[in-house]
Amino acid sequence: ALKIASLIILAYLIGSFPTGVIVGKLFFHKDIRKYGSGNIGTTNTFRVLGPIAGIVVFLIDFFKGTLATLLPVIFHLGPHYLCLFFGLAAILGHAFSIFLKFKGGKAVATSAGFLLGYNVHFFLICAIIFIPTLFITSMVSLSSLISIVLIFIASFFFHDIALSIISGLLVILIYWSHRSNIKRLEHHQENMVPFGILYWYKK
Ligand code: G3P
Repeated sequence: ALKIASLIILAYLIGSFPTGVIVGKLFFHKDIRKYGSGNIGTTNTFRVLGPIAGIVVFLIDFFKGTLATLLPVIFHLGPHYLCLFFGLAAILGHAFSIFLKFKGGKAVATSAGFLLGYNVHFFLICAIIFIPTLFITSMVSLSSLISIVLIFIASFFFHDIALSIISGLLVILIYWSHRSNIKRLEHHQENMVPFGILYWYKK
């Protein structure tokens, strides 16, 4: 039990690693939290610091989730569903980072990485839902909000109650973390990324 508890803390610390802030400060001498949407995630990094920085932040934030989720496998601990708690610890770390006074990102990339670590098939379904939604709406926030609900519904086809509970929790966390985006969406003022049908249609 002590081993599990210390590894859960490790998972939380991995999730807490503030990639966007570090990449911004180290390579651009900019605090990403003061620009664009103020978020530390992939979308805002892409927006403020460009595509290469965006991809780097995405990959690190994503694999934080995968690595933390696989800790029980790496350390040969108990049943597979344990991985869910490690993934959740990393996602909570990302959203409420100990290195950022318990503020953090919007939990999208780290959640995706967690899903890859937990169940490859389920992750592929997430990608099949998210990528076309983004391609149509051109809004990462709206795509995240639509996708997580569809992913929650899809989880029931996997007959894995723990997975459904965790994706249900992710619906709540992601809607909460996107409250400013939801306000912008209501006022038709949400930022778009320069790919996707709606962006080119509105241009
Ligand atoms: O991954 C976060 C995304 O859904 C929204 O990011 O910066 O547009 O608030 P942002």
